[in-house]
Amino acid sequence: MTTPASIPIAFASLAALSCLAGWTARSPAAHAADASDKAAFVPPPESAIPQGKFGDEVRLGEKIFREPGTHASAYVGNDLRCSNCHLDAGRLAGSAPMWGAYVTYPAYQAKNGHVNSFEERLQGCFRYSMNGKVPPLGDPVLVALESYSFFLAKGLPTDEAPPGRGFPALPKPDTKPDYDRGAQVYADHCAACHGGDGLGQSADGKVVFPPLWGPRSYNWGAGMGSIKNAAEFIHANMPLGMGGSLTPQQAWDVATYVDSQVRPQDPRFTGSVAETRAKFHDNANSMYGQTVNGAVLGDPASTPPAGTVPAAAEQGK
Ligand code: HEC
Ligand code: HEC
Repeated sequence: MTTPASIPIAFASLAALSCLAGWTARSPAAHAADASDKAAFVPPPESAIPQGKFGDEVRLGEKIFREPGTHASAYVGNDLRCSNCHLDAGRLAGSAPMWGAYVTYPAYQAKNGHVNSFEERLQGCFRYSMNGKVPPLGDPVLVALESYSFFLAKGLPTDEAPPGRGFPALPKPDTKPDYDRGAQVYADHCAACHGGDGLGQSADGKVVFPPLWGPRSYNWGAGMGSIKNAAEFIHANMPLGMGGSLTPQQAWDVATYVDSQVRPQDPRFTGSVAETRAKFHDNANSMYGQTVNGAVLGDPASTPPAGTVPAAAEQGK
């Protein structure tokens, strides 16, 4: 892997080393963001995980969260890790932390039109973000992830979204988000790590910088496929270690660029791109079904397949 020239050398090597080691280090910028958000909850340290059967589940859950391709491989259909999007292994405020999520379920989800248990919400990220198969309810993988999230949320009240849940809101862009401006932001601030082709970078067979698009990234149904979600995540957390350094306009532009690329099919695909857009993507935050660079996004001829979903898990979705 070449050292990206556009980021400080010290940080470049820190990022590379830490990623290879599973990314446990925190960047100075991430600390600064935490300090300004005084109300953000601090989850218990790893050293507080108890001994015994329950602690074993928590430890397994953390392993799955960091390396789902190794510890939950049957359900993973791409090269991503939960911790690629939920930074610091689901601990970081403003990066959809697991403690913030755990205490806000069961909750109604418009995406599938009913009240979802926490386990069902976990299934959603396997189906879409991981482009994988859905672990059945009660599966050891879901029990371990739930145990880990429960542990991280120790002491938080339930049914109240704690500060730091989800991604920080981002002001609407001054001008309509633009693909070409986004391409420039991408080249200047992202390509060094994620690659000019967006496919990420690996070293010694391990993904060091995750793919943002292409067949090994999240599929069209994923939360990150919404330009709004991506803009919020990117503004708060990217470039890695320099969260908050892009203007909101730059974040909207680059999110538009990233979410206008080829990625795996939406597993809810009905057989028609127009119909799938009308049913699931009929809003300004989704580029699915739109024509970009002369091609229709989601067109089966040029779209990698969705992960396969067991029939039982389809029910009610
Ligand atoms: C490509 C990025 C990405 C990956 C990989 C990913 N997620 Fe997510 N996840 C998101 C986004 C974006 C949201 C918020 C979606 C929304 O609000 O619609 C989210 C939301 C969640 C939530 C609900 C958060 C809340 O506050 O309600 C949980 C729980 C969750 N993810 C768990 C996981 C687990 C477990 C994995 C790994 C199996 C995973 N995610 C992998 C992007 C990702
Ligand atoms: C210094 C290297 C670096 C730079 C520069 C960088 N990223 Fe990242 N990015 C990462 C790493 C590493 C992760 C995974 C973090 C982890 O696992 O802890 C990541 C994760 C992501 C994710 C979620 C995972 C995925 O594959 O979808 C998105 C989206 C993302 N970056 C977008 C961007 C955008 C857009 C830019 C430019 C504004 C950018 N990044 C700049 C290193 C970088």
